[in-house]
Amino acid sequence: MLASEDQALFDALEDAQPKYATLPTPGAKHYLAQVEAVAKILGKPLIPWQRLAARIITERDPVDPTRWRYQRVIITTPRQVGKTTGNAAIQTAKCLLFPNRNAYYTAQTGHHARQRWLDLVDIIDKAGFEQDRDYTLLKGAGASILQFSNGSFIKPFAPTSDSLHGFTPHDVAIDEAYKFSLVEGTELEGGVSPAMQTKPDRQLIIFSTAGNADSTYLKKQVEQGREHIKNPDARTAYLEWSMADNADPDNPASWLFHPGLGHLITVDDLHQLHENEAPEVWLRAYMNTWISGATTGMVTPTEAAAVSARDITPPSHGVKNVAFAFEIAPDRSRTVIAAAWLDNAGTPTVKIIDRFAGVEDIEPKLAEIYTRRPLVIGSDDQGANRAINDHIKIVGKTPITTLTHRDYATACEDFRAAILAKKIILDDDPLLLDACSTAVMRPSGQGWLIDRFKTGAPVPEAIAAVVAVRLLSQSRPPAPKPLVMF
Ligand SMILES: Nc1ncnc2c1ncn2[C@@H]1O[C@H](COP(=O)(O)OP(=O)(O)OP(=O)(O)O)[C@@H](O)[C@H]1O
Ligand SMILES: [Mg+2]
Repeated sequence: MLASEDQALFDALEDAQPKYATLPTPGAKHYLAQVEAVAKILGKPLIPWQRLAARIITERDPVDPTRWRYQRVIITTPRQVGKTTGNAAIQTAKCLLFPNRNAYYTAQTGHHARQRWLDLVDIIDKAGFEQDRDYTLLKGAGASILQFSNGSFIKPFAPTSDSLHGFTPHDVAIDEAYKFSLVEGTELEGGVSPAMQTKPDRQLIIFSTAGNADSTYLKKQVEQGREHIKNPDARTAYLEWSMADNADPDNPASWLFHPGLGHLITVDDLHQLHENEAPEVWLRAYMNTWISGATTGMVTPTEAAAVSARDITPPSHGVKNVAFAFEIAPDRSRTVIAAAWLDNAGTPTVKIIDRFAGVEDIEPKLAEIYTRRPLVIGSDDQGANRAINDHIKIVGKTPITTLTHRDYATACEDFRAAILAKKIILDDDPLLLDACSTAVMRPSGQGWLIDRFKTGAPVPEAIAAVVAVRLLSQSRPPAPKPLVMF
């Protein structure tokens, strides 16, 4: 049972309840009121999630009150909810409460750490603290320090194993932890932990938004944190706010977990971000959801591989139900032709049937396909395709069906959704699978499309496949005739 004042912290969160949370120990001494007072002075009064975090972070060990209850705290939330600011308020409050406290702060690089520390200096200055009376300041790169008149200080440091060599910190904060690999994070902690060992009231706080496949350090913190909340004796506290598992990230009802909502960000702001950010960015940064790929491709390599099949062949009885699409790489280095049809179970199936250097051969190849009476031949009417489309139309030999810009966006979204739902079969052509996981999608109008120019290497296999599937669905092959007619 939570004490009523602790229950009130959760009630104040309304819909933005943490997905995982270490619970406050009923009756434990803590410094929430003091942190709140300092945050108010700094002009950043705590918002509900920051209040719960401050309550847990500042809890004293009931058995040995010279120690913090939690020597290690891991917090993960979406971006822009006040992690860095909340941490600054807590570090400042501890510095003001306890003389000679040594607090250190790092982030993805030493430069970033110093920038965020400069933000704090600015806040302190604007809050009416007076330099040389209330605090002293050294701003030199590598020697930056904000020291209060009681001897406590806050210092940024570079996230390396030897940065804290020779120092004895009480407080260390690691911001943007998703930027570190397990090796980097372990080396960083290897430099931090021994330096802190001599201080009984030490505390390491790690905070970040979710990461991707490269974020192996944070991943470990999250996995361990989720385990720690089951153990009442754990000395690690864990707090996580993220979208509910399996919720639809595109449905605003799924956004209500966001702990900045109504305080630092509005639903309108989220709608705009949702519209403008790539799906992976939206998921990771604003829904605080782990994305599996380190790249920002349409799908992850694993997701693409999950729908791939070997040795698929177009229907043997001719191509009257097969859609063909071509795509020329923007640098005209290669041209690809994809074929799409419905398999016996009605699942769209795609195969890269031709790939050749340059663009010269495309017209005779399309003319040859046309003689086989296919369902449709087409392409997206953009980029290098356009000249071919125009030329073939002008020559008038092979009718080409072109996708409009809007159709193309729908086609890209549908294709991605089909892969995620495993409602498509892809030829296990390595270039096709690779293209699906490297094709960068960007918003366009109300939809998303593969951006030929934002994608590092050309991905004509992916675009030809997308367009072939779209042409197939638009052309609706006739339903098979019943064998017996009444
Ligand atoms: N309690 C608060 N009261 C008023 N403003 C706040 C508060 N907390 C944070 N902010 C403001 O909200 C914005 C985002 O805060 P902050 O940069 O701390 O978020 P963050 O979670 O660290 O974001 P990111 O993930 O982008 O690093 C900043 O402009 C900050 O000043
Ligand atoms: Mg931040």
